[in-house]
Amino acid sequence: MNVDVDALFQPLQLGRTRLKNRLAMAPMTRQRSTLDGVPTDLNVEYYRQRASAGLLVSEGLYPSAMGRGYLFTPGLHNDAQQAGWKRVTDAVHGEGGAIFGQIMHVGRLSDPLMLDGEQPIAPSAVQPDPTARQYTINCPRPKRPYPTPRALTHAEVLGVIDDFRDCAVRAQQAGFDGVEIHAASGYLPMQFLSTNTNLRSDAWGGSVEKRCAFLLACVDAMIAATRRDFVAVKFSPGWSFHNVFDDDPVATYRYAVRELSKRGIAYLQLGDYGIGWVYETLRPLFDGPAMFVAGFTQPTAAATVREGRADLIGIGQAYISNPDLAERFRDHQMLTRPQLETYYTQGAEGYTDYPRFAGSDPEKLQSLDTVPIPISPTTTG
Ligand SMILES: Cc1cc2nc3c(=O)[nH]c(=O)nc-3n(C[C@H](O)[C@H](O)[C@H](O)COP(=O)(O)O)c2cc1C
Repeated sequence: MNVDVDALFQPLQLGRTRLKNRLAMAPMTRQRSTLDGVPTDLNVEYYRQRASAGLLVSEGLYPSAMGRGYLFTPGLHNDAQQAGWKRVTDAVHGEGGAIFGQIMHVGRLSDPLMLDGEQPIAPSAVQPDPTARQYTINCPRPKRPYPTPRALTHAEVLGVIDDFRDCAVRAQQAGFDGVEIHAASGYLPMQFLSTNTNLRSDAWGGSVEKRCAFLLACVDAMIAATRRDFVAVKFSPGWSFHNVFDDDPVATYRYAVRELSKRGIAYLQLGDYGIGWVYETLRPLFDGPAMFVAGFTQPTAAATVREGRADLIGIGQAYISNPDLAERFRDHQMLTRPQLETYYTQGAEGYTDYPRFAGSDPEKLQSLDTVPIPISPTTTG
């Protein structure tokens, strides 16, 4: 018997933005822009194809040249990148969709080869474990350990906050419906939040409040320059991906979520990634729309929204291979399996060439209750 999916197809108001359903394409780096970080025709087509999602969250966009960690990822800190994203947002809006841009600063997860010879920057000079396998299959970045980053000075921290603010303004000019700060997966904001990567004793480190200060300062600056419902945040509490650890993540994120709740942001995206306590501990502390992400299927997404636990469900890998995922969930049609080999390669293959259901290959279909590739607490990269 088919599960009841009605709850997934109710509209949702995110501030000024009205979503036509409760399905979001989760942010996914796909590394198919130019080397200068400018979106291409292929990127326009990829997002356009997926615009039947209630919300598209873009791949991570670097807000400054120092925020880049991978080749062929897009940025949003100059006019050419902004003009490229305007073409993407126009295409999505032309199909009746909505799109937030994810702002992703990798901090210490970079390499001088990516940064014109500069040393990566971070809250503290703590090298990611050089023995860990820190890169994903086919991921275009130097295949060598991450170097020890340089600790930002106080004045430089203020400069990075300005970069986040300016990026939000560019996002608005590029036609995005909002921005999402990537404060998950071990990138710069999470490096400030976590006890093993933030050893500072100034205004930006030490107590829970001070470790959260960078993120909250970014949020405040971005809200002041745009509006409160233009800004969203993604967390992956307790996840040690990219070698970040927190002595007491429950305390850190309880405080952070309560502070975000006071600010009335557009939504909070929470990734559990197999940790176990994230949704039930943090969701009740946020008075606004919540998106849950990681490992959801059609039946679990429908049940989670129907039972009022989350307002929106982010779908990652299944969206890579199913541009019409919303229609397949609605019509109980099987899903095309994604190919891991082409997650981070170049060109249309494995990107814009996945068929809609009518043209799909029966050999490549899997049932609606299958998670393509589960991400676990021990996933390293
Ligand atoms: C190829 C790939 C790239 C990703 N890139 C990002 C990213 O840029 N930003 C982000 O917040 N999460 C990123 N993620 C994580 C996804 O947003 C999502 O949380 C994850 O895939 C789990 O959801 P799923 O089980 O539905 O795939 C990425 C995941 C994949 C598979």
